[in-house]
Amino acid sequence: MFLADSNAAYYKLGEISIVKMQESHIPEIHKIEKVEFNDPWSERLLRSELKLDRLYLVAELKGEVVGYGGVGFFAGEAHILNLATKSEFKRMGIGLSITVLLLAYSSKIGIESATLEVRVSNDAAKHLYEKVGFVPVGIRPNYYVKENEDALIMWIHDLSSEASMKTLINLLEEAN
Ligand SMILES: CC(C)(COP(=O)(O)OP(=O)(O)OC[C@H]1O[C@@H](n2cnc3c(N)ncnc32)[C@H](O)[C@@H]1OP(=O)(O)O)[C@@H](O)C(=O)NCCC(=O)NCCS
Repeated sequence: MFLADSNAAYYKLGEISIVKMQESHIPEIHKIEKVEFNDPWSERLLRSELKLDRLYLVAELKGEVVGYGGVGFFAGEAHILNLATKSEFKRMGIGLSITVLLLAYSSKIGIESATLEVRVSNDAAKHLYEKVGFVPVGIRPNYYVKENEDALIMWIHDLSSEASMKTLINLLEEAN
């Protein structure tokens, strides 16, 4: 499933290929960022992520970027950094598949726990994260300063367990 050093598809979701992010994807990702987030990451910031200890995946349909997501590794924990699906391609399993692949990769490299922050009002993302096994554990007050909104902190603590992996693989198969 994992071809970490290759440009080949990690995974096929119907006609959609999920591949490692390349610099050439960044302008399209930035366009999606501007639509989907109040505080979009700049192209420069996205480019700098490519040099760090991260895995970013991009969903492509006939060369068009239709979704993306990334995970960073800090102190032995996986941190989901961003995730978005282009408007016309929502509810097709893209966000879920990318998240599952990021978590499965994290598990494969020996990471036991994963975490993320999500806006308390972001029901779509909260449902997705709960579906893949994240559990809410607390609130970071006013984490999103611009909108004065709290973040829900979510964790998975048994990422490397066989049960966890089975759940992730089943979800990936269901999304397809
Ligand atoms: C959150 C987001 C990435 C989901 O992407 P997606 O590709 O549409 O998600 P999927 O099709 O894989 O959905 C997987 C599951 O997530 C949940 N979900 C997704 N969108 C939802 C919505 N609008 N309302 C409720 N649940 C939703 C559902 O449980 C869904 O499973 P189902 O379709 O079988 O019911 C997308 O809505 C998005 O880009 N939002 C804006 C950016 C964002 O908020 N990112 C998260 C930052 S923390």
